[in-house]
Amino acid sequence: MQVVADVKEMQRLSEVWRREGKIISFVPTMGYLHEGHLALMKMARKKGDVLVISIFVNPTQFGPGEDFERYPRDMERDKQLAESVGVDVIFAPEVQDMYPEGYQTFVEVIEITKPLCGRSRPGHFRGVTTVVAKLFNIVKPHVAVFGEKDFQQLQVIRRMVKDLNMDVEVLGHPIVREKDGLAMSSRNVYLSPEERQAALRISRSLGVARELVAQGVREAPEVLRKVREVLTPDEGLKIDYVELRDPETLKEVSHINGPTLLAIAAFVGKARLIDNAIISPIEN
Ligand code: PAJ
Repeated sequence: MQVVADVKEMQRLSEVWRREGKIISFVPTMGYLHEGHLALMKMARKKGDVLVISIFVNPTQFGPGEDFERYPRDMERDKQLAESVGVDVIFAPEVQDMYPEGYQTFVEVIEITKPLCGRSRPGHFRGVTTVVAKLFNIVKPHVAVFGEKDFQQLQVIRRMVKDLNMDVEVLGHPIVREKDGLAMSSRNVYLSPEERQAALRISRSLGVARELVAQGVREAPEVLRKVREVLTPDEGLKIDYVELRDPETLKEVSHINGPTLLAIAAFVGKARLIDNAIISPIEN
């Protein structure tokens, strides 16, 4: 396994592989790897001949007052984990090489970035699409894997790839959870034991919503009211949003009559956590 920091060197490596007829698969990350990231890498490994991941805490997707500076980092541990799942190259550039002086170009997906995390984190998706477009130009992947944990991000990337005719196949991977249900996240390290208990209500509330719909409840306000009740029996958790939306268009849904995205964002202590589920009225 190689670690490459230089943009030109990464482009040169990818160009050589492409000329050899190799399929390049790619998993972009911000590092501090966990089993969720590794599951994406195992999936990507099967889709290509060479597997590249990126580790880059991207400043342009963090707002003022967010956790860019204190975002957890551990390159040595990440290297070992990446090696263990068969990563060929870690692309880990420096901020000044990705955004040198004079940088002024951004990629923006207009509509589906407006609700949910887009509303709570203005400019966040503009930073995500910009860095992912840059990473695609540097790594030149045929296939890229993203997690459904960041469901809106996955849909935003799909939209960008379609709208800009990027020649990359985007694949989604289901959410990977801890044994107790908590969705894995690099940000879970911010949680104290008590906060972690409160955070568990998020995945539990998704289960409650699923049961309600299985029992025949179809009205969105009723489902949302119950979810809010499960989330906030006390002050341990603060809801950012709880919403039911169409999984493709991300438009709000008032009546559940097909697969519907239930998306949650909540603050627990210093951590802002997100989770979601696709809830279908018909059991399959
Ligand atoms: P990061 O939060 O490091 O996540 C990297 C990838 O891992 C994303 O596609 C994310 O959805 C996926 N992922 C994280 N936790 C997961 C879990 N529990 N189950 C399944 N997939 C999970 O998302 C980003 O980085 C950045 O925004 C990035 C796309 C790298 C752009 O900077």
